[in-house]
Amino acid sequence: MNIAAHPVVEADQTVYLKDYQKPSFLVDSIQLDIQVFDDKTHVYAKLDMQRQTAGDLVLLGRDLQLQSIKVNGQVLAENEYQLDTEQLSIANAPEHAVIETHVIIHPESNTQLEGLYLAGGDLFVTQNEPEGFRKITFYPDRPDVLSVFTTRVEADKKFPVLLANGNLIEAGEAGEGRHYTVWQDPTKKPAYLFACVIGDLAVLKDSYVTSEGRNVALEIYAEEKDIAKCHIAMEALKHSMRWDEEHYGRPYDLDNYMIVATSAFNMGAMENKGLNIFNTSCVLADEEYTTDAAIMRVQSVIAHEYFHNWTGNRITCRDWFQLCLKEGLTVFRDQSFSEDLQSAAVQRIDDVAVLKAHQFPEDSGPLSHPPRPDHFVEINNFYTATVYEKGAEINRMMATLLGKEKFRAGTDEYFKRHDGQAVTVEDWVAALTAGSGVDLSSFLIWYNQPGTPKLEAQGEYDATAQTYRLSLKQSLKAHPKYPNLKAVPIPVALALFNKASGEQLVLNSDALFENAVKDGVYLFDQDEAVIEFTGVKAQPVVSLLRSFSAPVNLEFNYSDEELAFLLQYETNGFNQWQAAQSLVENILLKDHDAQIYLDAISSPKLLPQLVCKDPLLASRLLDVPAEGYLGSRIDENYNPAMIQEKRNALLTAVALSFTGFWKNIYQTLEAPAEFSQAMGVRALKNIALNMMARQGDESVFDLAFEQFKTTQNMSERLGALKVLVWNDAPQAKEALADFYARFKGEALSMDQWFMVQAAHPKATAESIQALTQHPDYDLKVPNRIRAVSGGLNANPVNTWSFGVQHFIGLAKYLDEKNPIVGSRLLQALSRWYTLAEPQRSVVKAELEALKPQVKSKNVSETLNSMLSV
Ligand code: ARG
Ligand code: ZN
Repeated sequence: MNIAAHPVVEADQTVYLKDYQKPSFLVDSIQLDIQVFDDKTHVYAKLDMQRQTAGDLVLLGRDLQLQSIKVNGQVLAENEYQLDTEQLSIANAPEHAVIETHVIIHPESNTQLEGLYLAGGDLFVTQNEPEGFRKITFYPDRPDVLSVFTTRVEADKKFPVLLANGNLIEAGEAGEGRHYTVWQDPTKKPAYLFACVIGDLAVLKDSYVTSEGRNVALEIYAEEKDIAKCHIAMEALKHSMRWDEEHYGRPYDLDNYMIVATSAFNMGAMENKGLNIFNTSCVLADEEYTTDAAIMRVQSVIAHEYFHNWTGNRITCRDWFQLCLKEGLTVFRDQSFSEDLQSAAVQRIDDVAVLKAHQFPEDSGPLSHPPRPDHFVEINNFYTATVYEKGAEINRMMATLLGKEKFRAGTDEYFKRHDGQAVTVEDWVAALTAGSGVDLSSFLIWYNQPGTPKLEAQGEYDATAQTYRLSLKQSLKAHPKYPNLKAVPIPVALALFNKASGEQLVLNSDALFENAVKDGVYLFDQDEAVIEFTGVKAQPVVSLLRSFSAPVNLEFNYSDEELAFLLQYETNGFNQWQAAQSLVENILLKDHDAQIYLDAISSPKLLPQLVCKDPLLASRLLDVPAEGYLGSRIDENYNPAMIQEKRNALLTAVALSFTGFWKNIYQTLEAPAEFSQAMGVRALKNIALNMMARQGDESVFDLAFEQFKTTQNMSERLGALKVLVWNDAPQAKEALADFYARFKGEALSMDQWFMVQAAHPKATAESIQALTQHPDYDLKVPNRIRAVSGGLNANPVNTWSFGVQHFIGLAKYLDEKNPIVGSRLLQALSRWYTLAEPQRSVVKAELEALKPQVKSKNVSETLNSMLSV
């Protein structure tokens, strides 16, 4: 078998970036005809292919029943091609080959939710990124093969909606109660962006006029009862379209933009050209049925998929190693969009909290990999926090360094150079460099090596010389697979404050040093460096990594007093929050005394004022990190029960040290009309309710039950339900029953009902089993699995006891049924090696025992990596 035409798959199934080769054939156009029946689907494909380099003509295909194949009109006999479970290859194919195939597939029994699949009673959808298209038809299914798609979709009329990418050019009767549509997508695209939808759905319509004057029809398809929950998404879509014109000069390029909601989806959403397919959790938004956090997420995912139209679709990836090219950039863009929607500081806090809770632990353990990996077994395993979130941070660092104008000049150059192409991370950095005139090539180091850098800083004030010297040092933990780790460029945004007055100082930094501090940012790109500030008249407090200017672990020997100072006087909301977090980590992980923190947080100068001005930021300053996050900061002898105990003690101390404050907040704060302010007030009132419960006053349960019954807002209802259920309040059962009766038919609300119960701190194997055996639990719907598993995992004490069996059982079951989700869920156990004995050995043995029982590349690769510590 000749395998020169695509990355070499070795016997061990590992694919390497270094083996990339251009495809031997390109596809100028493809005509598809997809005919859906109850028990099978026929797919006819006609590919117009042109030779580019020497080698066999290779078509990838998986689980396809080949009926016939023709080359330039001639039927091929079985000895004229080679077929295995992954591909069909034709030796000595002519320069110009028109390939016609007919295959049969079975979307009605496809549980993997990849390719074309039945997503529920009357809806078929596709998910083709990264390698799903090969489950629909034989095709060179790789992102550097771009083609013009014409798609005919035919089905029974019980499916009135027949959609595909591009413009509708024909529709009609197909006989025997069937009908069809034909769609043509004028833009060349890789197969992973192909989509089609066959179903019975209602639609919400709107329109948008682009900066170029193009009138775009906007359509969101969902179940009839959910159409009213699509308005927030529609507004977010129009807002995103305007935002991309204003911030990146990118108007939309087709006459229609369609979004389809489905409840059976492995991920959040998918940016298929002009026809996005969304998990309902990322498109349906309504204060009555979904929480404030979910509403914020809908807006950001709508923006994310829309922004992919330029960063991902018009300019795509050469190969899947470049995934962070499109994802890192698009996440950076959606985060910037969300910063414009609400308090920018809070958005940054929330994004960094996600980064630290997921990406930092991933990067410090056995699943650590560079944002651009150089090898993989199963690419689906690399849709990770590192590729997405660390990828976004790399772009943010470059944007910070360049400033608005130069960054824009750089992105303009990228769009000018590469529109219509499939490119690499190097191409992106080179275009940014050329457009901005600033050499950014050293940022490629960030893309190519794993691990979170440690940034050690030390400050020294000389009162006589009036100088402040800041010494910086960076290092990375050695990695067996990446021996040549290099220093990375770290933009350090910083400020100095007068310790006595709290005032911010004007910075004069010494020009002796290679990089000066410019606009409050110092570019630290050596192993070590010293900055000297002059004219510092009084003892300063330094604030480092403002707005988290780089994804590093900062070690600075702050005293708790200095942290309390920053919490109070920093004008950067993110660093205020960071100071509070550092204080809490000192208490919970380093056994510092809690008093300084408690005094700072209850100071009359801080929260009482902020509560009115910026309630959302006030609520974040009260954050006490989750047990799971705290556990991820511990690398050995981790004892989940001890963390739980300490954290509970601190929360109770916070509750008791603000005696009247909580009740006061609860009774006086009123949610205003403006959404982001209202969200802040609701968050604060829910914290207050929790704190009152911790004060031990049982009358709080009456308040909570009253809130639960009377509100029409899901954040308020759920906040109250959690207080009742997690404290085993007498009203808990009734509240759960009421919630069930109210939201029985609402899948997203019911996910919350499952989650709240699974997240009970005293959940047991039996209580979890009762949930997984509930008639509304459904292993075919990833959202429902994640509701229970995510809930369980909210309490690491439970995860690491009976939860181990739960996650291993799911990985085993899903290994065949839905390996993408199975592999993802198993990662809940990836930090097993940090546990204290005997738990460590117990979990290890369980994982070892799973090894011979799993077959999918997804689950096996994850399990092997997890066990490789
Ligand atoms: N490109 C999609 C997004 O980030 C995610 C698709 C992931 N799909 C998968 N099978 N891993 O918006
Ligand atoms: Zn994306």
